[in-house]
Amino acid sequence: MNSFKTSLSLALALSVSLWFSGGCGQNTFREGERLYKTHCANCHMDDGIGLSALIPPLAGSDYLNKHREQLPCILRYGLSDTIFVNGKMYAEKMPGVPTLSEIHITNLLNFINNSWGNRNGVYRLEEVRAALEKCQ
Ligand code: HEC
Repeated sequence: MNSFKTSLSLALALSVSLWFSGGCGQNTFREGERLYKTHCANCHMDDGIGLSALIPPLAGSDYLNKHREQLPCILRYGLSDTIFVNGKMYAEKMPGVPTLSEIHITNLLNFINNSWGNRNGVYRLEEVRAALEKCQ
């Protein structure tokens, strides 16, 4: 009887902790990670370090904070400009992913802004939606 009680409370504790670890924040972060691996990692690399002089890094990038409002448009429509990331110049063209939804973009931005040591805060869906309305 006692062992039954023990396993019952263990099962209860386990389901409670599963419920917490599967919370909303974790799932959206995981989706951001999945989208990153599908659409971005082939250029920016799994660990966000970029590729030599061609592809700028996302890990430790000062561009992310300085261009917070432009990032939603860059992810959807790409970037073809001369830019500086951590003092280095980049001028290759980045293709956008037009099929990304507002939610996808929010999750992706939260992933890249809070991975690899980045601590750039959180994007809200409304903020991303408003930024996308202003894309040129
Ligand atoms: C084909 C390669 C390629 C792919 C795929 C790609 N990028 Fe880029 N990315 C680049 C290049 C090249 C630049 C620099 C563009 C320029 O100079 O105008 C860049 C610039 C950036 C920047 C701004 C500079 C920085 O390093 O902070 C961000 C943010 C970014 N990319 C995020 C992403 C995300 C997120 C994805 C996936 C949705 C993605 N990129 C997919 C090549 C790529």
